[in-house]
Amino acid sequence: MSRIAYVNGAYVPHRQGAVSIEDRGYQFSDGVYEVICLFKGKLIDAGPHLDRLDRSLAELSIPNPYSRAALMTIIHETIRRNRLSDGLVYLQMTRGTAPRDHQFPEDTRPALVVTARYFDFDQAAIKAAEGMKAITYPDIRWARRDIKSVSLLPNILAKQAAVEKGAYEAIMTMPNGLVTEGCSTNFWIVDQTGLRTHPVCPDILNGITRSRIIEIAKKEGVPLNESPFTVEEARQAREAFTSSSVRAVQPILTLDDHPIGSGLVGPITTKIFQSYQRFLKTGVVS
Ligand code: PDD
Repeated sequence: MSRIAYVNGAYVPHRQGAVSIEDRGYQFSDGVYEVICLFKGKLIDAGPHLDRLDRSLAELSIPNPYSRAALMTIIHETIRRNRLSDGLVYLQMTRGTAPRDHQFPEDTRPALVVTARYFDFDQAAIKAAEGMKAITYPDIRWARRDIKSVSLLPNILAKQAAVEKGAYEAIMTMPNGLVTEGCSTNFWIVDQTGLRTHPVCPDILNGITRSRIIEIAKKEGVPLNESPFTVEEARQAREAFTSSSVRAVQPILTLDDHPIGSGLVGPITTKIFQSYQRFLKTGVVS
């Protein structure tokens, strides 16, 4: 079955989907995006994802011409036309098309693309439960990582470095030795203070999965510590994992080939992993 994409007002065969060569997303990375997971026919946290989309757009002064209801209709229609019940919905909005000039163009309508593709969450969860390797990599991104911008060059360089070392994720580090997050995930450790992750600020993306994990930790009575930590502290941690909409909770067993804790998936990580899987199935943190 051929895939269908929504491109600026029309549903088109995926391979024929095209935007202008003067789309500002293409020329300047002048746009934002969201990835929403569709699990057993249900969108996971669509509301918070679209809230974050609105926030990213507002921070860049890109007016959103679509109402929430219109966006939801487009997302559901894209899913329906692709006959998916498990998959990833990708939504990208740019400032639109205009003759190339750095300043914001006037009277340009933002461009919207929505695509959806199959993703096997069950298989991913089985694989994830085994644990993965991560590396550290310098965080060379701009100072507004809280905006989910399509400008991902530092992130893809970091991911490529991880892949070349046989690792799943690159954990990004600042010159002062502090860890920010993974190149496409938030990063968590378990140490003597409890479950620890970087606080929400412009240095990291405020992950939707991150918020759910905080809710889970509170429910499970796991002490939470939202404070920055160093690479050394991560190496000395008892447990570590990453979180994202695509890969849920991913246990990390080694950092730069250095085992974390016992080198096995730890008890707190297992608790969070299982609880997040339950949330995916039931839609509530229980
Ligand atoms: N990445 N940090 C970064 C830098 C990310 O790119 C992502 C998500 C996250 C996790 O956010 P969330 O829990 O809302 O998915 C954290 C998406 C999935 C991507 O770029 O494909």
